[in-house]
Amino acid sequence: MSPRGAKGRCKPARPVDRFGHSPALVASWRRLAERALREGARTPFYLFSPEPVAERIAELDALDLGRPATAWLSCKTQPLPVLLRWWQRRGRPIEVVSEFEFRAALAAGFPAERILVNGPAKHRWLPRVATSDIRVHFDSPSELASLLPFARRQTWGIGLRVRTSAETDPEDPSSPTQFGFEPAEIPSALRSIRRAGLLATSAHFHLRTNVPEPAVYLGALEQLASICGSNRWRPEYVDIGGGLPPRHTLDRAGNRCDAGYRGSLEGYAAVLRKAAGWFPGLAGWWHENGRFVSAGSGVLVMEILDSRQRGGLRQLICDGGRTMNALVSQWEQHALHPLEHRRGRMQPTAVHGPTCMAFDQLARRPMPSSLRAGDHLVWFEAGAYHLSWETRFSHGLAEVWWNESGKLTRVRAADTLA
Ligand SMILES: Cc1ncc(COP(=O)(O)O)c(C=O)c1O
Repeated sequence: MSPRGAKGRCKPARPVDRFGHSPALVASWRRLAERALREGARTPFYLFSPEPVAERIAELDALDLGRPATAWLSCKTQPLPVLLRWWQRRGRPIEVVSEFEFRAALAAGFPAERILVNGPAKHRWLPRVATSDIRVHFDSPSELASLLPFARRQTWGIGLRVRTSAETDPEDPSSPTQFGFEPAEIPSALRSIRRAGLLATSAHFHLRTNVPEPAVYLGALEQLASICGSNRWRPEYVDIGGGLPPRHTLDRAGNRCDAGYRGSLEGYAAVLRKAAGWFPGLAGWWHENGRFVSAGSGVLVMEILDSRQRGGLRQLICDGGRTMNALVSQWEQHALHPLEHRRGRMQPTAVHGPTCMAFDQLARRPMPSSLRAGDHLVWFEAGAYHLSWETRFSHGLAEVWWNESGKLTRVRAADTLA
């Protein structure tokens, strides 16, 4: 698709927006949205496709990390049954953190050995549903004490989540997060596991979402390696959680979320290659990247219902927005393209959802002055943490459409209160 440059080398197509999307990509989502509307989609609706997920996974699979790597699907990021089934059919594994997600994984056909259970307080629900041969990362001393007998009887693969010093409360960085074992709790946890005749074969951390640069993983791995070394713990697998930022998104200040990666995953791969030698007996890396893998796999399509002018600012009221469909717009900026080809002068514009909350503002940026009620807007990178954080505020949940192998299907109807 790239035009050829004067010297015969392929030049990448100029991005169509400041988020770095190619014209071809924007055009393909537009065509798909138009087709969904022709096939009866009712706005607001989400439109998802597995191909972008496959592309990101191929990128991760192609990295040289010094050891083989396994990518677990982060269920919480995009809890969409049709995506779970698509992933399952490819023989890939899933990471869940609740009974709700565990049951969804079983319903999608994942065998026990391809289900990894993370998350806090699972001793309160896991005994109800657990089967033999699942893999579990214990999150606290009391969880470990409650679940060890089950782990033994049901031959679980087990590991410990460790809280590294990089994991702090985002609202108060001087306080720790609530997840995992403190380093000082590791010796007694490993002793209890040994006394039960078991081995903790995986060590796990999850730093946070949108880890700003590879060096943050390096620091956490160094710390984990030191904890393992001082406890003579030789995990076969190190699970570094998720946290890779998605492409094509900006923070509220306008910086690319993945700026610290300089347009490539090579820095991340170099960190893991370097750290592989710090874990004697390491057979493989595990990662559970949610955002990076699925953000680009969907869009949200809305209709403009009304337009009003307040001083120099035009306000568009749409049938979808932040409150119901795109909570991430509170801290991220995503591309927002009109579906209809509108030209003309760009005008300062605020795009709002229909709820009675001033908070319901999806974006504020210059947009073509010819936009009018009845037009549609397409919000990009809606494939991560949009379904998870949807609300029913005044309107109920939106329709969901799925595009696979050229076939468009409505996989979820809009909610009703009736
Ligand atoms: C344990 C764990 N793994 C993976 C993820 C996915 O994170 P991300 O979407 O930032 O890659 C999360 C997100 O909260 C998590 O808690």
